[in-house]
Amino acid sequence: MKVLVASAWPYVETVPHLGNLIGSILSADVFARYARLKYGKENVLFVSGSDEHGTPIEIEAIKRKVNPKELTSQAHEYVKKLFLDTWEISFDNYTRTESEVHKKFVSEFLLSIQKYIKVKEEVLPYCENDKIFLPDRFIKGTCPYCGFEDARGDQCDRCGRLLSPELLINPKCAICGSKPIYKKTKHWFFDLSQFSEKLKDWLSLSKTMPENVKSVALSWIQEGLKPRSLTRDTSWGIQAPFEGSEGKTIYVWFEALLGYVSATIEYFENNGNNEKWSDYWFGNVKSFYFIGKDNIPFHAVIFPAMLLASEKNYVLPSVISATEYLMYEGQKFSKSRKIGIWIDEAPQIMDVEYWRFVLVRLRPEEKDTNFLWRETLRIINTELNDDIGNFENRILSMINRYFSGVVPGYHVELEDEHDKKLLALMRDTPSKVSLEFERGRLKSGTDYILELAREGNAYLNLKAPWDRVKDRKEIAENTLYIGINLIRELAIMLYPIIPSYAKIIYSHLNLTNIEEEMWDNIFSLSLQPGHKVRKASPLFKKIDLDFEKQVQEKLSSIRKELEKTRPTLLR
Ligand code: MF3
Ligand code: ZN
Repeated sequence: MKVLVASAWPYVETVPHLGNLIGSILSADVFARYARLKYGKENVLFVSGSDEHGTPIEIEAIKRKVNPKELTSQAHEYVKKLFLDTWEISFDNYTRTESEVHKKFVSEFLLSIQKYIKVKEEVLPYCENDKIFLPDRFIKGTCPYCGFEDARGDQCDRCGRLLSPELLINPKCAICGSKPIYKKTKHWFFDLSQFSEKLKDWLSLSKTMPENVKSVALSWIQEGLKPRSLTRDTSWGIQAPFEGSEGKTIYVWFEALLGYVSATIEYFENNGNNEKWSDYWFGNVKSFYFIGKDNIPFHAVIFPAMLLASEKNYVLPSVISATEYLMYEGQKFSKSRKIGIWIDEAPQIMDVEYWRFVLVRLRPEEKDTNFLWRETLRIINTELNDDIGNFENRILSMINRYFSGVVPGYHVELEDEHDKKLLALMRDTPSKVSLEFERGRLKSGTDYILELAREGNAYLNLKAPWDRVKDRKEIAENTLYIGINLIRELAIMLYPIIPSYAKIIYSHLNLTNIEEEMWDNIFSLSLQPGHKVRKASPLFKKIDLDFEKQVQEKLSSIRKELEKTRPTLLR
């Protein structure tokens, strides 16, 4: 079986913030690292890329009077480097929608589903001042469903409903603010309605699709799917490939989603294995998508409908893990109001792996979740330092002190109920974590890992090996034997989240190649008596109680510095 791990492609008119990161790419990375341990590296492919087209980027470029490609190229290089070099995102392929492979695949794919595509004349909003049609985000107005005044032509950012420009109340041009006139044009439409039944069956029968995704998608289908327009009268984008469609581009969502396939094709082309991409799209494949909740209709309705339209038996998504929003201290992240932390700022505040751990622990899986500095402090000082770091340090120090760094023998006949209980938890935890991860619930998965660490600490306190070495040495031996094996187990389960620290734990244990471990063998008690471990050194550092104050003080100088070092078009 093959496992495709896919992360939503970030728009690159700006640097992503921490909410964007945990909403897609970081979550997908944690899952991909887990999946490689679970299914074997050679069976997992992790793809994403920069989403370069679409009206927000075109508008930004018009406002800055630059070519959109210049803007997205700078941004693409910058964020790609941040993901790969700074945030340790283990993509197999991070590409871009301007890639030739992508553009070619999109044209061919759309031509292959023409049976579901029809041309229609339309009367659409047009700005006489800017001399352009105003699709999607080129137009703003009031949402007819929720009354939000800053809704855009394609989607309302408050209620998340998909819109179309003529539905907006009191519409305005997003560039100059003037009131549009209406003008005749023609567009190509993809007839979604033909897939209602198939989509409904697929979603309602799926045993793996998370409920929040099912319910949003099913209610959308319930409201009635209509033909959706595939083309736009804009200049930035992929040229529409249909007869008579010269001068039109493809609507960004109808091509970006196909990037999941084209990025797979590109990966195998780059590796000289041109045919292999199909292993990840046909037959025995599980696919996991990591997205924010505003992306649900596109991934759970439009994308599968396109795949169905090709009639080639593409594998539809198995799990779409859609996060709620991450809020910053009670507010929405906002670039213009500088509310939030961006992914090039965060590493200057604190170790990237601390961030990875904190963000996974705050991952908004059930409801919108607040990023709070207070909570960040608790997670680092209590969970990372006390529950994990301290436990490691205590066990390793004692093995060094009492047994010269050699894993002691185990005496089965002396095993008591506490040993048995902890061993049972050690045996059961990896599969509990796995089950949560495979439902796209990464935070809940880590709840089990931390519970195991805390049980380990409680066990240690109860068994007090520092006393038992004096009166019942064999008991202390049993305790430390279980303890050191528990540390190995924690290291492997933490590897997807904090890969470098997991490797440090491995080196303390005098072990190597954590990436070669298999998830299903985690509970193997493979640290056998006689194995020599290294000296302990503290893994993590606590952060100061006035951390938040320090951050606020530092932040303005970090931002000033970035104003000089960010690529010019991203300042
Ligand atoms: N760029 C989109 C967003 O940030 C996500 C696109 S996902 C893709 O909301 F697969 F369609 F590229
Ligand atoms: Zn205008």
